[in-house]
Amino acid sequence: MVRPDKERPDTLGLATQAVHGGNAVDQGTGAIRTPLVLANSYALPEDPSSLSWSQFDVPLYTRNSGANQIALQRKLAALEQAEDALVLASGVAALHAVFFTLLRTGDHAVVSDVTYEAVWRLFAQILPDRYGVEATFVDASDPDAVRAAIRPTTKLVHTEVIANPTTRLCDVEALAGIAHESGALLSVDSTFTPPPLYRPLSRGADLVVHSLTKYVNGHGDAMGGAVIGAKALLDPIRADAMVDVGGVISPFNAWLIGRGAITLPLRLRQHQANARLVAEFLDAHPAVAYVRYPGLPSHPQHDLARRLFDGRGYGGMIAFALDGDADLQNRFVAELKVITSAVSVGHDESLIVHVGAGTRGRAAYWPTEFQERGHLRFSVGIEEPDDLIADLDAALDAVAPARRPRP
Ligand SMILES: Cc1ncc(COP(=O)(O)O)c(C=O)c1O
Repeated sequence: MVRPDKERPDTLGLATQAVHGGNAVDQGTGAIRTPLVLANSYALPEDPSSLSWSQFDVPLYTRNSGANQIALQRKLAALEQAEDALVLASGVAALHAVFFTLLRTGDHAVVSDVTYEAVWRLFAQILPDRYGVEATFVDASDPDAVRAAIRPTTKLVHTEVIANPTTRLCDVEALAGIAHESGALLSVDSTFTPPPLYRPLSRGADLVVHSLTKYVNGHGDAMGGAVIGAKALLDPIRADAMVDVGGVISPFNAWLIGRGAITLPLRLRQHQANARLVAEFLDAHPAVAYVRYPGLPSHPQHDLARRLFDGRGYGGMIAFALDGDADLQNRFVAELKVITSAVSVGHDESLIVHVGAGTRGRAAYWPTEFQERGHLRFSVGIEEPDDLIADLDAALDAVAPARRPRP
């Protein structure tokens, strides 16, 4: 058995890495926690004339690098078992960094047709209209559709593991094989599937993106984003997106997210246990029209979810709708007394948002029930599950008393 050692992340289990990764005794003060360093400039060597002002491998200026960015990057690299990590101001800054560094005019990308909204806008409008980058949106749950969309100019395939907002899954390993056959890279937004639930790099992905704003921070009080992978891929992204474009994370946010990430494995366990109980409750309730949760046998890809996550859980995100119109969904949300109506996901507190019906824009790719009824995107928090279920039950009772479950 290998002796565990804080200095060697490869010898540590995930919960230990979450606690110790990126942390060290501070040489200046002896503090056993990496201090918050708000300075935006660092002492230069006696002869700085040979330094490049675009350098990012030594702390020089906080837009190039800094103590708290470095600590968070080390923790994230340990959690994803990656060589390197880059942290930026937000999840969208991280996605933008990947796309704008890797794609040139005339290049083509194959993009999952169910993704976070900003990815949709970047590939449907901004990249093609302003930068001449073409994109094909495909059903990423169908490897044949992804293969068929590849062109000689395809440089990137981009997907989410559990897609926002429909909870559709894709097989990262299959997509990595297809991307690599044609010389393209695979980037995976794993925001809904943080470690230990899933590690896309271990399944062949080239780059992992996280909105750190969500599960990794977990406390709803800081924004951040990360790109994680091999140093050779990250260095050009770091040079462009951080040093020259300036999408830098603030030291305070990096410090907060590093502190939040310590409890990621612990919190995720509770998110997932709660989500399963809540999904089962909603699935059995006569007032609920549909529930999409990868852990339920009723999810169309439950078998794939079992294979991908291999007993580690199914995440904390549920999509569902009540049997009724938009007004009913809104009245239901208004009745909730514990669950908060707000965007964002992966916070300690449960968050719900009503997304209306429709077929325009990215909704054109959503399942029929989402288009016809709209949906409630529910990020299940770490509260007592009984409180969450009682809150849902009382709100359902208030707006649909005739549909009360039989005792
Ligand atoms: C899957 C996914 N990726 C990226 C983002 C963007 O992250 P941020 O809000 O930190 O920019 C979000 C935000 O909701 C998301 O859900």
